[in-house]
Amino acid sequence: MAKSSMQIKVFTGICLWLTLVPLASHLEAKVTKSAFGNMPDGTKVEIFTLEEGALKARIMTYGARLVSLEVPDRTGKVADIVLGYESLAPYLADPKSYFGSIVGRYGNRIAHATFSLDGKAYQLPANDGVNTLHGGIKGFDKLVWQGHEIPRGVELTLVSKDGDQGFPGTLTARVRYTLDAHALKIEYFATSDKDTVLNLTNHSYFNLAGEGQGDILNHLVKIPADRYTPVDSGLIPTGELAPVAGTPLDFHQATAIGARINSDNEQMRLGMGYDHNYVLNGELGVLQEAAVVMEPTTGRILTVETTQPGVQFYSGNFLDGTLHGKHGHVYARRTGFCLETQHFPDTPNHPMFPTSELKPGETYHYITIFKFSTAP
Ligand code: GLA
Repeated sequence: MAKSSMQIKVFTGICLWLTLVPLASHLEAKVTKSAFGNMPDGTKVEIFTLEEGALKARIMTYGARLVSLEVPDRTGKVADIVLGYESLAPYLADPKSYFGSIVGRYGNRIAHATFSLDGKAYQLPANDGVNTLHGGIKGFDKLVWQGHEIPRGVELTLVSKDGDQGFPGTLTARVRYTLDAHALKIEYFATSDKDTVLNLTNHSYFNLAGEGQGDILNHLVKIPADRYTPVDSGLIPTGELAPVAGTPLDFHQATAIGARINSDNEQMRLGMGYDHNYVLNGELGVLQEAAVVMEPTTGRILTVETTQPGVQFYSGNFLDGTLHGKHGHVYARRTGFCLETQHFPDTPNHPMFPTSELKPGETYHYITIFKFSTAP
């Protein structure tokens, strides 16, 4: 190659590098941290703000909760699409909704507040009738995690002592929230020093029209799962993996949440609407689409991907108008829906379900991605 053409190539290369590098760092989500109040014992709670273009997520250290999530609609108009509160105090006063939190150690229910592991029975606190819901009376949603900035996001760490809420083993959980490519990614890691069981998930309630903008019954939902885990009257899985075909739980075709929610169907009556775990078709540990939800008036689309084996589709049936959220909005029945990617409810009592056991030396690791786009 002639010397001059070589020089031109090197020069062009340097110019390209000089233009692309600042562009790349400009696009990377910006992360800032601020104070969000104190716990009754004085422990400080912090909130991290992640911003990537028009997307903005705020995550606080109390319960590792997603406090707000601003997403543009089809015209570019931004709205906060998750239910919650503006300050810390109402989160502390609300033990039941789990708004935006990371629930643990065991997301969803454990029957009769007990399970056996390695031949030993463990007793947990019952906080949902006779059952344990979302980790017990003081689950991970009610603890202050340690937060620190990471590229594009925040990493939250919690150490739960051996015997915490009755569960064996000292467990170290780490949850990373990052914003990248129009998506909020949540990555979960955990280790334990004894055999234990674990099921971490995020309990955000979405309303794609904007929190406080009425019910979610016109949202169109698609869930590509062929089967679900039917429940009994305590919302405990019967153990069966039943086909969704021919039932109001079949969401292979995008269907409005409200279209069949009041059907005369036993599972819909027991759930008081949708409150069911779908058995995802794909391979455990491989990222797959769990659900797609579209809100017709704004065009906002949420696509959920996960490496978990299941997703709980909950249509906010227990919201009853007593909670006053952001901007004084009243959260009436079915004004938010949850898609909790997870191991199946009550797995510790169902040896046939994909195991939720975690042993010393192993690392629990799952990924869930909430992707945002719009329909014309
Ligand atoms: C989960 C459960 C519901 C309900 C909510 C919290 O989604 O499946 O039954 O307990 O949490 O209100």
